[in-house]
Amino acid sequence: MTKSVTLRRPDDWHLHLRDGAMLQAVASFSSHFGRAIIMPNLVPPVVTGAQAAAYRDRIRAALGPKMTLRPLMTLYLTETTDPADVLAAHAAGIIAAVKLYPAGATTNSASGVRDFDKVRGVLEAMAQAGIPLCFHGEVTDPAVDIFDREAAFIDRVLDPIRRATPGLRVVMEHITTSDGVDYVAGNDDIGATITTHHLVINRNHILAGGIRPHYYCLPVAKRETHRLALRRAAVSGDARFFLGTDSAPHPDHAKESACGCAGCFTAPNTMSILAQVFEDEGALDRLEGFTALNGAAFYGMKPNQDRIRLVRRDTPAAYPTHIPAGDETVTVFDPGFPLYWHVEDPA
Ligand code: NCD
Ligand code: ZN
Repeated sequence: MTKSVTLRRPDDWHLHLRDGAMLQAVASFSSHFGRAIIMPNLVPPVVTGAQAAAYRDRIRAALGPKMTLRPLMTLYLTETTDPADVLAAHAAGIIAAVKLYPAGATTNSASGVRDFDKVRGVLEAMAQAGIPLCFHGEVTDPAVDIFDREAAFIDRVLDPIRRATPGLRVVMEHITTSDGVDYVAGNDDIGATITTHHLVINRNHILAGGIRPHYYCLPVAKRETHRLALRRAAVSGDARFFLGTDSAPHPDHAKESACGCAGCFTAPNTMSILAQVFEDEGALDRLEGFTALNGAAFYGMKPNQDRIRLVRRDTPAAYPTHIPAGDETVTVFDPGFPLYWHVEDPA
């Protein structure tokens, strides 16, 4: 018997679409999604409302008239961000959230925040206006082991900022640890995105039997116990957890390098992978909550009205292993298992 599941059209609450030739190459691969929170870590970053509006227009142009994906823009918080510009961009409907990168934490984060006291005024203004803050949750202290940086961030940065700024709505992005799961599950006014790849890989996939740069992303995948905690959270039905793929394309030469950069490109096959993960967990009935309801509720938006259908067939869905991007190629995330779940869009 053919198995199938029909869902409200899903949303991606954390997506890197890049710019220029890369944007042209990758945009259509997110077209099953209704809306996507677009990360602002371009070079240079998207720091003003005017830049966010211009970037949104470039994304719309790259998507073309046939694609319905709605880009929800974010501003990249710096120590000199003007609270008035954030409020105006939000009031004008240009931005849905603000992104905080600790300086140096990840790809293109050099302009991020070093001294959290310097952004206190912006955060207070955001709390009052109800503008969500999306956190890249890792400390950058070189003395902290890279596998401990998320847990340290919760104690040193996230919890103190939330206590100092009552009412601030926070998304802890791409959580990778049971510490992240426990913190989010125990608090209000907080949500967390979970990526597709962190439900699939642990750190052995990156490092055992040879180094596999296409599994390297930040926050880096942790040990198996953490992956299992993320899977439990994703399928739990707890509305604080929702999908943010963090699909982050890089040219292959930049990944396959002596100093390879961080990011997994999961946009093309994300829904097929997630259907398999949720089936394996006996939780296909929760896939809609995780991908299409919980995030919208956190952001105060209605779920998408239309639907997609996922059908489990005997032959795997054919996804490209690489896609062309200008003069470069980008490797598509390989989950390591066949993808029998096919996406039918529309349902
Ligand atoms: C992202 C990127 O490439 O922009 N990389 C990643 O490993 N996730 C940045 C980020 O979200 O940390
Ligand atoms: Zn990201």
